[in-house]
Amino acid sequence: MTPDLVVVGSGFFGLTIAERCARERGLKVLVIDQRSHIGGNAYSEAEPTTGIEVHRYGAHLFHTSVDRVWEYVTRFTTFTDYRHRVYSTVRGEVYPMPINLGTINQFFRAAYTPGQARELVREQAGELAGTDPENLNDKGIQLIGRPLYEAFFKGYTAKQWQTDPKDLPASIISRLPVRYTYDNRYFNDTYEGLPTDGYTAWLERMADHPNIEVRLGTDFFDASQPINKAAVVGQVPVVYTGPIDRYFDYAEGELSWRTLDFEQEVLDVGDFQGTPVMNYADEDVPYTRIHEFRHFHPERQYPDDATVIMREYSRFARRGDEPYYPVNTAADREALLRYRELTKQERGVVFGGRLGTYKYLDMHMAIGSALSTYDNVLPDVLG
Ligand code: FAD
Ligand code: NA
Repeated sequence: MTPDLVVVGSGFFGLTIAERCARERGLKVLVIDQRSHIGGNAYSEAEPTTGIEVHRYGAHLFHTSVDRVWEYVTRFTTFTDYRHRVYSTVRGEVYPMPINLGTINQFFRAAYTPGQARELVREQAGELAGTDPENLNDKGIQLIGRPLYEAFFKGYTAKQWQTDPKDLPASIISRLPVRYTYDNRYFNDTYEGLPTDGYTAWLERMADHPNIEVRLGTDFFDASQPINKAAVVGQVPVVYTGPIDRYFDYAEGELSWRTLDFEQEVLDVGDFQGTPVMNYADEDVPYTRIHEFRHFHPERQYPDDATVIMREYSRFARRGDEPYYPVNTAADREALLRYRELTKQERGVVFGGRLGTYKYLDMHMAIGSALSTYDNVLPDVLG
Protein backbone atom coordinates (compact mmCIF):
# COMPACT_ATOMS: atom_id res chain seq x y z
CA MET A 1 0.00 0.00 0.00
CA THR A 2 1.03 3.61 -0.42
CA PRO A 3 0.43 5.06 3.02
CA ASP A 4 -1.15 8.46 3.64
CA LEU A 5 0.97 8.73 6.80
CA VAL A 6 4.10 7.03 8.11
CA VAL A 7 4.45 6.73 11.88
CA VAL A 8 7.94 5.92 13.15
CA GLY A 9 7.62 4.10 16.48
CA SER A 10 4.77 1.96 17.81
CA GLY A 11 4.79 3.25 21.41
CA PHE A 12 1.78 4.94 22.95
CA PHE A 13 2.45 8.19 21.12
CA GLY A 14 2.74 6.60 17.68
CA LEU A 15 -0.18 4.21 18.16
CA THR A 16 -2.48 6.97 19.39
CA ILE A 17 -1.73 9.04 16.28
CA ALA A 18 -2.17 5.98 14.03
CA GLU A 19 -5.45 4.98 15.65
CA ARG A 20 -6.95 8.48 15.43
CA CYS A 21 -5.88 8.99 11.80
CA ALA A 22 -7.17 5.59 10.69
CA ARG A 23 -10.47 5.72 12.55
CA GLU A 24 -11.37 9.39 12.35
CA ARG A 25 -9.86 10.38 9.01
CA GLY A 26 -9.89 7.07 7.19
CA LEU A 27 -6.19 7.43 6.40
CA LYS A 28 -3.95 4.50 5.51
CA VAL A 29 -1.26 4.50 8.16
CA LEU A 30 2.00 2.59 8.07
CA VAL A 31 3.61 2.20 11.49
CA ILE A 32 7.22 1.05 11.54
CA ASP A 33 9.26 0.01 14.55
CA GLN A 34 12.85 -1.14 14.77
CA ARG A 35 12.02 -3.56 17.57
CA SER A 36 10.53 -7.01 17.01
CA HIS A 37 7.35 -6.11 18.92
CA ILE A 38 4.89 -3.22 19.18
CA GLY A 39 4.24 -0.98 22.14
CA GLY A 40 7.55 0.73 22.83
CA ASN A 41 8.56 0.63 26.46
CA ALA A 42 5.09 -0.28 27.69
CA TYR A 43 5.35 -3.71 26.03
CA SER A 44 4.86 -6.73 28.29
CA GLU A 45 4.85 -10.47 27.76
CA ALA A 46 4.11 -13.67 29.65
CA GLU A 47 7.23 -15.25 31.14
CA PRO A 48 7.11 -18.63 29.36
CA THR A 49 7.54 -21.05 32.29
CA THR A 50 5.14 -19.35 34.74
CA GLY A 51 2.79 -17.31 32.55
CA ILE A 52 3.44 -14.29 34.79
CA GLU A 53 3.16 -10.99 32.89
CA VAL A 54 6.53 -9.26 32.84
CA HIS A 55 7.07 -5.62 31.80
CA ARG A 56 10.23 -6.00 29.74
CA TYR A 57 11.31 -2.36 29.98
CA GLY A 58 10.56 -1.82 33.66
CA ALA A 59 7.38 -1.81 35.74
CA HIS A 60 4.61 0.30 34.18
CA LEU A 61 1.80 1.64 36.35
CA PHE A 62 -1.03 3.46 34.66
CA HIS A 63 -2.46 6.52 36.37
CA THR A 64 -4.04 9.78 35.21
CA SER A 65 -6.27 12.61 36.34
CA VAL A 66 -7.08 13.69 32.79
CA ASP A 67 -10.67 12.76 31.92
CA ARG A 68 -10.04 12.91 28.20
CA VAL A 69 -7.15 10.45 28.42
CA TRP A 70 -9.10 8.09 30.68
CA GLU A 71 -12.09 8.19 28.31
CA TYR A 72 -9.76 7.39 25.40
CA VAL A 73 -7.77 4.55 26.95
CA THR A 74 -10.86 2.79 28.28
CA ARG A 75 -11.98 2.28 24.66
CA PHE A 76 -9.23 -0.33 24.38
CA THR A 77 -8.99 -1.91 27.80
CA THR A 78 -10.54 -2.17 31.21
CA PHE A 79 -8.39 -1.63 34.30
CA THR A 80 -8.00 -3.58 37.52
CA ASP A 81 -8.32 -1.84 40.86
CA TYR A 82 -4.55 -2.12 41.49
CA ARG A 83 -3.18 0.67 43.70
CA HIS A 84 0.57 1.16 43.64
CA ARG A 85 2.55 1.04 46.88
CA VAL A 86 6.30 0.94 47.34
CA TYR A 87 8.48 -0.11 50.27
CA SER A 88 12.15 0.54 50.91
CA THR A 89 14.76 -1.59 52.65
CA VAL A 90 17.20 0.56 54.61
CA ARG A 91 19.92 -0.92 56.83
CA GLY A 92 18.08 -4.19 57.27
CA GLU A 93 14.66 -2.68 57.94
CA VAL A 94 11.61 -2.23 55.69
CA TYR A 95 9.77 1.11 55.58
CA PRO A 96 6.72 2.34 53.66
CA MET A 97 7.37 4.91 50.90
CA PRO A 98 7.00 7.72 49.97
CA ILE A 99 8.15 9.01 53.36
CA ASN A 100 5.00 9.36 55.44
CA LEU A 101 4.03 9.48 59.09
CA GLY A 102 4.42 5.69 59.31
CA THR A 103 7.96 5.92 57.90
CA ILE A 104 8.90 8.76 60.25
CA ASN A 105 7.55 7.09 63.37
CA GLN A 106 9.22 3.79 62.50
CA PHE A 107 12.51 5.50 61.71
CA PHE A 108 12.61 7.59 64.91
CA ARG A 109 10.94 4.91 67.10
CA ALA A 110 8.30 7.45 67.99
CA ALA A 111 4.57 8.15 68.02
CA TYR A 112 4.61 11.67 66.63
CA THR A 113 1.42 13.41 65.67
CA PRO A 114 1.38 15.06 62.21
CA GLY A 115 2.21 18.41 63.83
CA GLN A 116 5.11 17.00 65.86
CA ALA A 117 6.57 15.21 62.83
CA ARG A 118 6.33 18.37 60.76
CA GLU A 119 8.10 20.33 63.49
CA LEU A 120 10.86 17.70 63.74
CA VAL A 121 11.54 17.69 59.99
CA ARG A 122 11.56 21.49 59.93
CA GLU A 123 14.09 21.51 62.78
CA GLN A 124 16.34 18.96 61.07
CA ALA A 125 16.09 20.70 57.71
CA GLY A 126 17.14 23.89 59.56
CA GLU A 127 20.75 22.65 59.54
CA LEU A 128 21.21 24.28 56.13
CA ALA A 129 18.36 26.78 56.25
CA GLY A 130 18.96 30.02 54.39
CA THR A 131 21.91 28.65 52.41
CA ASP A 132 21.87 28.21 48.66
CA PRO A 133 22.65 24.52 48.16
CA GLU A 134 25.25 23.94 45.48
CA ASN A 135 24.86 20.22 45.18
CA LEU A 136 22.15 17.63 45.47
CA ASN A 137 23.39 16.42 48.85
CA ASP A 138 22.98 19.83 50.49
CA LYS A 139 19.66 20.32 48.75
CA GLY A 140 18.38 17.01 50.11
CA ILE A 141 19.39 17.94 53.65
CA GLN A 142 17.78 21.34 53.27
CA LEU A 143 14.52 19.79 52.09
CA ILE A 144 13.95 17.05 54.69
CA GLY A 145 16.89 17.10 57.13
CA ARG A 146 20.00 14.96 57.27
CA PRO A 147 18.69 11.77 59.00
CA LEU A 148 15.81 11.08 56.57
CA TYR A 149 17.77 12.27 53.54
CA GLU A 150 20.78 10.10 54.30
CA ALA A 151 18.69 6.99 55.04
CA PHE A 152 16.22 7.13 52.17
CA PHE A 153 17.76 9.19 49.37
CA LYS A 154 21.53 9.54 49.58
CA GLY A 155 22.54 5.97 48.67
CA TYR A 156 19.58 5.50 46.34
CA THR A 157 20.42 8.66 44.41
CA ALA A 158 24.13 7.75 44.27
CA LYS A 159 23.16 4.41 42.69
CA GLN A 160 20.69 6.00 40.26
CA TRP A 161 23.35 8.36 38.95
CA GLN A 162 26.49 6.35 39.71
CA THR A 163 27.71 9.63 41.15
CA ASP A 164 28.21 10.93 44.69
CA PRO A 165 25.27 13.33 45.32
CA LYS A 166 27.88 15.91 46.39
CA ASP A 167 28.93 15.96 42.73
CA LEU A 168 25.40 16.20 41.32
CA PRO A 169 23.67 19.54 40.65
CA ALA A 170 21.07 20.63 43.21
CA SER A 171 18.70 21.27 40.30
CA ILE A 172 17.97 17.54 39.85
CA ILE A 173 15.44 17.75 42.70
CA SER A 174 13.08 20.56 43.53
CA ARG A 175 11.26 18.72 46.30
CA LEU A 176 11.33 15.43 48.17
CA PRO A 177 7.87 14.19 49.03
CA VAL A 178 7.02 13.82 52.74
CA ARG A 179 3.46 13.13 53.88
CA TYR A 180 2.29 13.86 57.37
CA THR A 181 -0.42 11.21 57.27
CA TYR A 182 -0.24 7.42 57.13
CA ASP A 183 -1.35 7.41 53.48
CA ASN A 184 1.19 5.42 51.47
CA ARG A 185 -0.57 5.29 48.11
CA TYR A 186 2.15 6.10 45.63
CA PHE A 187 0.02 8.06 43.15
CA ASN A 188 -2.78 10.45 43.96
CA ASP A 189 -4.42 10.57 40.56
CA THR A 190 -8.16 10.24 39.95
CA TYR A 191 -7.74 7.08 37.87
CA GLU A 192 -5.32 4.25 38.49
CA GLY A 193 -5.09 0.58 37.57
CA LEU A 194 -3.42 -2.01 35.40
CA PRO A 195 -4.83 -3.17 32.06
CA THR A 196 -6.92 -6.24 32.84
CA ASP A 197 -5.59 -8.33 29.94
CA GLY A 198 -2.09 -6.86 30.05
CA TYR A 199 -0.34 -4.03 28.23
CA THR A 200 0.26 -5.85 24.98
CA ALA A 201 -3.41 -6.75 24.48
CA TRP A 202 -4.24 -3.05 24.99
CA LEU A 203 -1.55 -1.90 22.54
CA GLU A 204 -2.61 -4.48 19.95
CA ARG A 205 -6.24 -3.32 20.13
CA MET A 206 -5.11 0.21 19.36
CA ALA A 207 -3.38 -1.03 16.20
CA ASP A 208 -6.24 -3.35 15.21
CA HIS A 209 -7.76 -1.46 12.30
CA PRO A 210 -7.86 -2.38 8.61
CA ASN A 211 -6.19 0.93 7.69
CA ILE A 212 -3.22 0.36 10.01
CA GLU A 213 -0.26 -1.74 8.96
CA VAL A 214 2.54 -2.35 11.47
CA ARG A 215 5.94 -3.28 10.13
CA LEU A 216 8.33 -4.49 12.82
CA GLY A 217 12.10 -4.90 12.67
CA THR A 218 12.24 -1.81 10.46
CA ASP A 219 14.67 1.01 11.22
CA PHE A 220 13.72 4.37 9.69
CA PHE A 221 17.41 5.09 9.00
CA ASP A 222 18.08 1.84 7.19
CA ALA A 223 18.30 2.93 3.55
CA SER A 224 17.89 -0.67 2.37
CA GLN A 225 14.26 -0.68 3.60
CA PRO A 226 11.60 0.68 1.23
CA ILE A 227 10.29 2.99 3.98
CA ASN A 228 13.21 5.08 5.23
CA LYS A 229 13.99 8.70 5.95
CA ALA A 230 15.53 9.53 2.55
CA ALA A 231 12.73 7.85 0.60
CA VAL A 232 9.81 9.19 2.59
CA VAL A 233 10.45 12.67 4.00
CA GLY A 234 8.92 15.30 1.72
CA GLN A 235 6.86 12.63 -0.08
CA VAL A 236 4.56 11.33 2.67
CA PRO A 237 3.70 13.00 6.01
CA VAL A 238 5.70 11.48 8.88
CA VAL A 239 5.18 11.34 12.63
CA TYR A 240 8.58 10.56 14.12
CA THR A 241 8.84 9.28 17.72
CA GLY A 242 12.47 8.10 17.70
CA PRO A 243 15.39 10.03 19.23
CA ILE A 244 15.52 13.62 17.95
CA ASP A 245 19.36 13.69 17.84
CA ARG A 246 19.54 10.54 15.77
CA TYR A 247 17.11 11.98 13.20
CA PHE A 248 19.66 14.71 12.48
CA ASP A 249 22.58 12.29 12.62
CA TYR A 250 23.75 13.84 15.92
CA ALA A 251 24.68 17.07 14.09
CA GLU A 252 24.21 19.17 17.26
CA GLY A 253 25.74 16.59 19.61
CA GLU A 254 24.39 13.60 21.48
CA LEU A 255 21.71 14.16 24.10
CA SER A 256 22.49 12.29 27.31
CA TRP A 257 20.25 9.67 28.89
CA ARG A 258 20.25 7.30 31.81
CA THR A 259 19.48 3.69 31.09
CA LEU A 260 18.51 0.70 33.22
CA ASP A 261 19.80 -2.85 33.25
CA PHE A 262 17.32 -5.54 34.23
CA GLU A 263 18.21 -8.92 35.66
CA GLN A 264 15.23 -11.26 35.49
CA GLU A 265 15.04 -14.48 37.49
CA VAL A 266 12.43 -17.20 38.00
CA LEU A 267 12.49 -18.49 41.59
CA ASP A 268 10.82 -21.63 42.89
CA VAL A 269 9.01 -19.91 45.74
CA GLY A 270 5.41 -18.72 45.58
CA ASP A 271 6.21 -15.31 47.02
CA PHE A 272 9.63 -13.67 47.19
CA GLN A 273 8.98 -10.28 48.79
CA GLY A 274 5.24 -9.95 49.42
CA THR A 275 4.91 -6.73 47.42
CA PRO A 276 5.41 -5.56 43.80
CA VAL A 277 8.30 -3.14 44.30
CA MET A 278 11.00 -3.07 46.99
CA ASN A 279 13.54 -0.25 46.85
CA TYR A 280 17.03 -0.81 48.22
CA ALA A 281 18.31 2.50 49.54
CA ASP A 282 21.71 1.34 50.87
CA GLU A 283 24.68 2.07 48.68
CA ASP A 284 26.32 -1.31 49.22
CA VAL A 285 23.38 -3.11 47.55
CA PRO A 286 24.19 -2.74 43.85
CA TYR A 287 20.60 -2.65 42.51
CA THR A 288 18.09 0.13 43.16
CA ARG A 289 14.98 -2.05 43.38
CA ILE A 290 13.44 -5.45 42.86
CA HIS A 291 10.13 -5.94 41.05
CA GLU A 292 8.04 -9.05 41.66
CA PHE A 293 5.52 -9.17 38.86
CA ARG A 294 2.91 -11.54 40.29
CA HIS A 295 1.91 -8.85 42.79
CA PHE A 296 0.77 -6.49 40.03
CA HIS A 297 -2.11 -8.91 39.36
CA PRO A 298 -3.28 -10.49 42.60
CA GLU A 299 -6.58 -11.23 40.82
CA ARG A 300 -4.93 -13.67 38.38
CA GLN A 301 -4.39 -17.40 38.80
CA TYR A 302 -0.61 -17.60 38.85
CA PRO A 303 1.38 -20.65 40.00
CA ASP A 304 1.86 -20.82 43.77
CA ASP A 305 5.29 -22.46 43.59
CA ALA A 306 7.12 -20.05 41.26
CA THR A 307 7.62 -16.32 40.90
CA VAL A 308 9.42 -13.87 38.60
CA ILE A 309 11.63 -11.11 39.98
CA MET A 310 13.61 -8.42 38.22
CA ARG A 311 16.51 -6.53 39.77
CA GLU A 312 16.97 -3.02 38.40
CA TYR A 313 20.33 -1.27 38.00
CA SER A 314 20.77 2.30 36.82
CA ARG A 315 23.62 3.93 34.86
CA PHE A 316 24.47 6.50 32.20
CA ALA A 317 23.58 5.33 28.70
CA ARG A 318 26.07 5.01 25.87
CA ARG A 319 25.09 5.01 22.22
CA GLY A 320 23.34 1.70 21.54
CA ASP A 321 21.87 1.44 25.06
CA GLU A 322 18.13 1.93 25.54
CA PRO A 323 17.61 5.63 26.40
CA TYR A 324 15.24 5.77 29.42
CA TYR A 325 15.49 9.03 31.37
CA PRO A 326 16.78 12.34 29.98
CA VAL A 327 19.77 13.57 32.01
CA ASN A 328 19.00 17.13 30.94
CA THR A 329 22.30 18.90 31.64
CA ALA A 330 22.73 22.53 30.58
CA ALA A 331 24.55 21.25 27.47
CA ASP A 332 21.61 18.93 26.70
CA ARG A 333 19.13 21.79 26.97
CA GLU A 334 21.19 23.94 24.61
CA ALA A 335 21.56 21.13 22.08
CA LEU A 336 17.82 20.46 22.30
CA LEU A 337 17.07 24.08 21.36
CA ARG A 338 19.31 23.74 18.32
CA TYR A 339 17.57 20.50 17.35
CA ARG A 340 14.19 22.20 17.72
CA GLU A 341 15.35 24.83 15.24
CA LEU A 342 16.30 22.07 12.80
CA THR A 343 12.87 20.43 13.10
CA LYS A 344 11.26 23.59 11.70
CA GLN A 345 12.97 22.96 8.38
CA GLU A 346 11.64 19.39 8.17
CA ARG A 347 8.45 19.99 6.25
CA GLY A 348 5.84 17.30 6.71
CA VAL A 349 7.53 15.76 9.76
CA VAL A 350 6.03 15.95 13.26
CA PHE A 351 8.31 15.09 16.18
CA GLY A 352 6.59 13.57 19.20
CA GLY A 353 6.79 11.20 22.14
CA ARG A 354 9.47 10.97 24.78
CA LEU A 355 12.39 10.36 22.40
CA GLY A 356 11.25 12.82 19.76
CA THR A 357 10.95 15.62 22.33
CA TYR A 358 13.66 14.51 24.82
CA LYS A 359 11.21 14.61 27.73
CA TYR A 360 10.26 12.06 30.33
CA LEU A 361 6.58 11.35 29.68
CA ASP A 362 4.33 9.06 31.68
CA MET A 363 2.05 6.95 29.53
CA HIS A 364 -0.95 9.20 30.09
CA MET A 365 1.19 12.21 29.10
CA ALA A 366 2.38 10.51 25.91
CA ILE A 367 -1.22 9.65 25.02
CA GLY A 368 -2.52 13.12 25.96
CA SER A 369 0.22 14.77 23.96
CA ALA A 370 -0.59 12.58 20.93
CA LEU A 371 -4.29 13.47 21.17
CA SER A 372 -3.50 17.17 21.14
CA THR A 373 -0.94 16.75 18.35
CA TYR A 374 -3.66 15.00 16.35
CA ASP A 375 -6.04 17.91 16.95
CA ASN A 376 -3.69 20.85 16.61
CA VAL A 377 -0.59 19.97 14.59
CA LEU A 378 -1.51 17.17 12.21
CA PRO A 379 -4.17 19.04 10.24
CA ASP A 380 -1.46 21.36 8.82
CA VAL A 381 0.78 18.47 7.89
CA LEU A 382 -1.92 16.30 6.38
CA GLY A 383 -3.53 19.14 4.49
P1 FAD B 1 8.32 4.68 23.35
O1 FAD B 1 7.44 3.79 24.12
O2 FAD B 1 9.75 4.73 23.70
O3 FAD B 1 8.19 4.26 21.81
C1 FAD B 1 9.08 4.71 20.82
C2 FAD B 1 9.22 3.61 19.78
O4 FAD B 1 9.95 4.13 18.66
C3 FAD B 1 9.98 2.40 20.27
O5 FAD B 1 9.19 1.24 20.11
C4 FAD B 1 11.23 2.38 19.39
O6 FAD B 1 11.66 1.06 19.08
C5 FAD B 1 10.74 3.11 18.15
N1 FAD B 1 11.85 3.69 17.38
C6 FAD B 1 12.81 4.53 17.83
N2 FAD B 1 13.66 4.84 16.82
C7 FAD B 1 13.22 4.20 15.72
C8 FAD B 1 13.69 4.10 14.36
N3 FAD B 1 14.80 4.75 13.95
N4 FAD B 1 13.00 3.35 13.49
C9 FAD B 1 11.90 2.67 13.89
N5 FAD B 1 11.41 2.72 15.16
C10 FAD B 1 12.06 3.47 16.06
N6 FAD B 1 4.87 5.59 32.39
C11 FAD B 1 3.84 5.51 33.25
O7 FAD B 1 2.79 6.12 33.01
N7 FAD B 1 3.91 4.73 34.39
C12 FAD B 1 5.03 4.02 34.69
O8 FAD B 1 5.08 3.34 35.70
C13 FAD B 1 6.14 4.11 33.81
N8 FAD B 1 7.27 3.44 34.09
C14 FAD B 1 8.34 3.56 33.25
C15 FAD B 1 9.50 2.88 33.54
C16 FAD B 1 10.60 2.99 32.72
C17 FAD B 1 11.85 2.26 33.06
C18 FAD B 1 10.53 3.82 31.57
C19 FAD B 1 11.73 3.97 30.69
C20 FAD B 1 9.38 4.48 31.26
C21 FAD B 1 8.26 4.36 32.09
N9 FAD B 1 7.07 5.01 31.80
C22 FAD B 1 6.02 4.92 32.65
C23 FAD B 1 6.95 5.87 30.59
C24 FAD B 1 6.40 5.14 29.38
O9 FAD B 1 7.26 4.10 29.02
C25 FAD B 1 6.28 6.20 28.26
O10 FAD B 1 5.28 7.10 28.60
C26 FAD B 1 5.94 5.65 26.92
O11 FAD B 1 6.85 4.66 26.57
C27 FAD B 1 6.00 6.78 25.91
O12 FAD B 1 5.64 6.31 24.66
P2 FAD B 1 6.36 6.85 23.36
O13 FAD B 1 5.54 6.36 22.24
O14 FAD B 1 6.61 8.29 23.46
O15 FAD B 1 7.82 6.18 23.38
NA1 NA C 1 7.50 2.69 36.60
